[in-house]
Amino acid sequence: MKILIINGPNLNMLGIREPGVYGTESYADLVRYLETACAELGVEAEVWQSNHEGAIVDKIQQAYGTADAIVINPAAYTHYSIAILDALKAVSLPAVEVHLSDIYQREPFRHVSYPAMACEKSVYGKGFAGYREAIEYLFAKYG
Ligand code: DQA
Repeated sequence: MKILIINGPNLNMLGIREPGVYGTESYADLVRYLETACAELGVEAEVWQSNHEGAIVDKIQQAYGTADAIVINPAAYTHYSIAILDALKAVSLPAVEVHLSDIYQREPFRHVSYPAMACEKSVYGKGFAGYREAIEYLFAKYG
C-alpha cells in the first residue's frame, strides 16, 4: 500500500514556530517519525510538504492512479481552502485529515475544516502520534 502524506504551509517551521502549540521537534523529526512508522507497518510512504495551495492541489491530483490513500495536514488551508477540498473529492481516494494541535480548542476561525468534508476521519491534538493513527486506520481498512 502506498500512502501520500501531505503537509501544508509553515509545517516546515516545526520546532521554531510556536513551540508552546506545536512542540519543539523539527519538521525533519516529523519526517523521520513518519518514515519509521510506515516502515514498521510495511506501508510505502511519500512525505511531502508545501507552503503553496496550488502545489498542494497539483500533488493531490497526481495521487490519482499513483497512491492508494492520502494523509493530509493542510495547516492553515484547512480553514478556507475549497480548492483542496475539491481536489480531494476529485481524486476520491481514502483520506484522513491530521492536525498536531486540537483545532477545536483554539480560536473560533480554526473550528471549520473544509478538507474534513472529503476525509473519512480527522485526528487532532495528538501531535506526531496523530499521523500514526491516521496511517494505521488507512492500512487496517485498505492495506
Ligand atoms: C495545524 C492547525 C492549523 O490551524 C494551523 O494553521 C497549522 C497547523 C495543526 O497541525 O495543528 O498550521 O494544522
